[in-house]
Amino acid sequence: MNWTVSPGGVPRGTLRVPGDKSISHRSVMLGSLAEGVTDVTGFLDGEDCLCTMKAFQAMGVRIERLGDTRLRVHGVGLRGLKAVGGALDLGNSGTSMRLMSGLMAAQNFGTVMVGDASLSRRPMRRVIEPLTRMGAHIDSNDGKAPLHLHPVDRLCGIEHVSAVASAQVKSCVLLAGLYAQGDTTVIEPEASRDHTERMLQAFGVRLQVAPGRVRIHDGQVLHGTAIPVPADISSAAFFMLAAALVPGSDLILQDVGINPTRTGVIDILRAMGASIEMSDERTFGGEPVADLRVRGQGLRGVAVDPTLVASAIDEFPAVFVAAACAEGETLVTGAEELRVKESDRIQSMVDGLVALGIEAVATPDGARIRGGQFRSGQIDSHGDHRVAMSFAMGALRAKGDIRIADVANVSTSFPGFARLATQAGLRIRL
Ligand code: S3P
Repeated sequence: MNWTVSPGGVPRGTLRVPGDKSISHRSVMLGSLAEGVTDVTGFLDGEDCLCTMKAFQAMGVRIERLGDTRLRVHGVGLRGLKAVGGALDLGNSGTSMRLMSGLMAAQNFGTVMVGDASLSRRPMRRVIEPLTRMGAHIDSNDGKAPLHLHPVDRLCGIEHVSAVASAQVKSCVLLAGLYAQGDTTVIEPEASRDHTERMLQAFGVRLQVAPGRVRIHDGQVLHGTAIPVPADISSAAFFMLAAALVPGSDLILQDVGINPTRTGVIDILRAMGASIEMSDERTFGGEPVADLRVRGQGLRGVAVDPTLVASAIDEFPAVFVAAACAEGETLVTGAEELRVKESDRIQSMVDGLVALGIEAVATPDGARIRGGQFRSGQIDSHGDHRVAMSFAMGALRAKGDIRIADVANVSTSFPGFARLATQAGLRIRL
């Protein structure tokens, strides 16, 4: 599937983007492991989260869909999951595979997890290694999916010093820690998103949390609860970008999750000159949310602060497009993790920028981008949802139509994107 996006729209109005992907995955996982019922509202019914939901249903968890975005999860307790006949297919979803590795490695039955071509290229050693030290038995295809997780009687707690700031690695090890004998500690170089810690606490699990360090105690039980899911800041980021790109735009984005481990994109866009105001700050469960008002007033290039990388990790495709439309040069450093996302996001983005006439050079850990104006042309999203959505927004400032190839995977994180973008003023057609 392809899109053609024409320039000229002025983003305006009030929208609510779909639910947070990270929190939606975790609501199904922790709800399934809890004792009792968990009611989820604002669930993201994107392909990735549906892979997680189907996997737990296949393992015997009753999950009722009370509407597109409402789920009732009938928890089976930590030892209530059942073996499945075949492999669990986790599609394009790295979060499903990495977090579930921690759970499935701890069961007394075996599991095979597979994914699509993109997921099968992504590094899994970062979870296999700590889990193996905890006593898990995992076979892989040279550190990549498919993963074969063999049955074990019990895992043991470890202290894991992660080389990367990765919430997926941290969450995997913490979830395995629920099944381990003794405490499990994860230490990371920068604080990654902390949704697992917040949600475990909402389910009644005791944790010790300090900056860059979290410990989970053994022998705990999760209790079903209500999980209201905020709108996903990673999806809102495309609309922040759209409004920031066009002078005269004025967009309000409702109920956006503003967990401080996720707000790097707001800091980066503000440093580039965007006007982003927050109002009505409140909490949804243990997660802070606010309404965001974004108005366009021109952008300037910056050296992106590398300490913001972890808290903006999924938003760099949007930042690259902002840089391409800014006055002057933008430098991104310290972001080598972008190379192992759904695509190599440094290369996919730089290739797309260059194809549209922007001066951009990829570096091992980022890029150097000189602002200009997009010319009409075609880009390949490499099956990467966030690359596709970022270039769609970039078309607002192009000289002519931009055609974006291979956009089907947008449904992994943002079902209804084209409709919402049209509502906001974009000229996008299939
Ligand atoms: C996620 C963590 C991030 C992010 C991904 C979702 C999560 O990955 O890129 O989209 O839900 O834990 P890493 O933790 O590997 O950086």
